[in-house]
Parts: sequence; structure tokens; C-alpha cells
Amino acid sequence: MPITDSYQRPLHDLRISVTDRCNFRCAYCMPKEVFGRDHIFLPKDDLLTFEEITRLARILANLGVRKIRLTGGEPLLRREVEALIEMLAALPNIEIAMTTNGTLLARKAQILKNAGLHRITVSLDALDNATFKQMNDVNVPVQTVLDGITAAEEAGLTPLKINMVVKRGVNNKDILPMARYFHGSGHILRFIEFMDVGSTNGWRMDQVVSAKEIAETINSQMPIELLEANYRGEVANRWRYTDGGGEIGIIASVTQPFCGNCTRLRFSAKGELFTCLFGTRGHDLRALLRDGASDNELHQHIATIWQARTDNYSEARSTATSNLPKVEMSYIGG
Ligand code: GTP
Ligand code: 5AD
Ligand code: SF4
Ligand code: SF4
Repeated sequence: MPITDSYQRPLHDLRISVTDRCNFRCAYCMPKEVFGRDHIFLPKDDLLTFEEITRLARILANLGVRKIRLTGGEPLLRREVEALIEMLAALPNIEIAMTTNGTLLARKAQILKNAGLHRITVSLDALDNATFKQMNDVNVPVQTVLDGITAAEEAGLTPLKINMVVKRGVNNKDILPMARYFHGSGHILRFIEFMDVGSTNGWRMDQVVSAKEIAETINSQMPIELLEANYRGEVANRWRYTDGGGEIGIIASVTQPFCGNCTRLRFSAKGELFTCLFGTRGHDLRALLRDGASDNELHQHIATIWQARTDNYSEARSTATSNLPKVEMSYIGG
């Protein structure tokens, strides 16, 4: 039986950040002014080892986890991340996925597939290089990410999802071009409302394009209809094109929060457990691991934390909560 928290939410998904580094500087996640040249990232010894991650994952599988998503920063920057995937893939009944910015994917897709990765989600905020740079603040051509997507498709890391964070005044003009581009491709394009994660991305409500507006924009040119959720706790509202052109998703964590069904636990790269993306404080599991805690002690400790969980940040969002110091997205992997 999976354990449940204070609001009867089962534990189902585990998101593991494998590095706090990234080769992008998305303004909504790692703004250059804060994550500049002199920013100090975690030293290697602070990161959980693959053995430590796998040990925690096994304990969490026993507590009901059925899906593990590797995140970052940029997970493909962690050296030999495929070796970790191989270790995790040996756990029974667990789906393994990854969210990546796609820059290293053309080189890595087949290796990841061979290691046992099931699915991949690629972030892509625009199709033209100028807007892409405005969002991600790097000089990577969009084509590099598109090549990564093609490689992932060829390797069979499907169904493939594409994440587009929408920011008013920057890339809201790209909603329709992106929809047209991926229509009929078999990939699921997901539009994400710009969120107030972390404390450094200068979030303002007037830059959020609501799920309603996104759906209306698409529907005005390419008719869509709402679909049922695939599973309890799915973050994206699912839609399909009525002409058979496939599925899209809209992640409305600002205007239609989904905390009531939130089944996600997160690990930062240095082994802190967070029960909410908007957490202010993590629970240090690395210290327990390195102090020689037994599997049973770790199991009990994590179960107690989950059972006491009351997080509902997005539902309780207000000006006051928005200004609280929060963990950075790149540290906890979204
Ligand atoms: P699948 O449904 O398995 O494909 O993945 P996912 O949507 O859970 O993962 P992904 O990494 O693609 O996340 C998509 C977006 O949803 C990102 O912007 C995440 O930060 C956001 N997101 C994921 N989980 C949560 C959550 O628990 N709370 C909030 N507020 N946002 C979330
Ligand atoms: N708001 C919404 N989505 C975000 N992501 C990163 N920062 C934010 C934010 N402030 C997205 C990334 C990636 C996913 C894991 O989270 O683009 O696709
Ligand atoms: Fe890197 Fe992803 Fe954050 Fe962009 S959103 S800076 S790609 S971790
Ligand atoms: Fe879950 Fe926290 Fe996101 Fe709500 S805000 S859905 S509790 S991670």
C-alpha cells in the first residue's frame, strides 16, 4: 500500500535533481545576474553518488513510488548519468523519465535508451533563435534542440513531450507557431504558465499567460477539445486537436493549481528531500545516509515526513507567500 500524506495524497512520483549546473540561463529559472560567472555550484563531494541515489530510490519504491524523473539543472551535464539510469532501471515496476534542455541529446539519446530510460521531455520555448535567446540567454541555435528531439524520437524515447514556458511580452507570440510546428508530429507540446518558483526570477503576475488564454489562442486557429487526465496527479490538462493532429497539454499551476492531487516528492542534488516545489526548507537525507542509517531507518524517516505533509503552495499562493525565500528551481529540478 502506498503511504498517504495529511490530505490523503499518495506518494507516486519521485523527481531527482542530479546536478545544480546548467548550460542555459533561462531568465525564469537561472537569471544571469544571479547565476553569473562567479556563481559557486555544488562541489562533487556534495552531490549524492549514484549508489546513494539508487539506495534512496529503492526505499521510495517500497513506499509506493512508480515513476522517477531525473532533472537538474541540466541532467545530461552529470557525468555518466547513463550509469545511474542503468542502476535505476534495475528496480522493478518503475518508469524512468528525464526532463532536459536538449542541447546534448543528439549525442546522448541512444545511449540513454540503451541504459533503460523510458521517456524524455525536452524544454523548448521558441522556434526562432532571437526569441529563444531572449528566454534562455544562451547562443545555442534552436536547431541543436530540434536535432536532439529527432534523435530522441529515433531512439524510441516516446511519447516525447516538449515543454514551453510562456512569458507575456517575450514568447506568447510563439504559441501558435509552436502549436503548428508540432501538430501531427506525434509529440505532445505542453504550454507552462510562468511560475513564481525560487526567489530570483522576478516573477510578476502580469507576465503570466493563463491556461485559458493559451487554449483560446490555439482554439481560434486549430480547434481543440479537452481530454480526461491519464492518471491522478497529472500536472498538465490534456487537449486534442479535433482534426486528429494529436495532443497538447497546458500546465496551469498559477491559475488552476493542482495541489489537491500532488503526489510528488523531490530530491535536490545534495540529497535534501522537498515535499513541495516551493519549499523553503529541505530535509537532509545525505547526512543520514553518510552517518550510516539503515534502510529501515531511512524508510521510517521518509514515511514520517510524507505522512506529515501539508503542502499546498500553489493553492495558497498570495503576494505574501510569493515573497518568501524559496528553493531555486535549478536546485530542485522543477
Ligand atoms: P509527465 O506528466 O510524467 O510527463 O511529467 P511532468 O509534467 O510531471 O514533468 P515535467 O518535468 O515535464 O514538468 C512540467 C512542468 O510542470 C514544469 O514546469 C514543472 O516545474 C511543473 N511541475 C511539475 N510538477 C509540479 C508540481 O508538483 N507543482 C507545480 N507547481 N509545478 C509542477
Ligand atoms: N515557470 C514555469 N516553468 C518553469 N520551468 C523552469 N522554471 C520555470 C518557471 N519559473 C520549466 C522548464 C522545464 C521544467 C522542468 O520546468 O522549462 O521544462
Ligand atoms: Fe537550465 Fe532548465 Fe533552468 Fe533553463 S529551466 S536554466 S534549461 S535548468
Ligand atoms: Fe505539489 Fe507544492 Fe506544486 Fe502544490 S505547489 S502541486 S503541493 S509541488
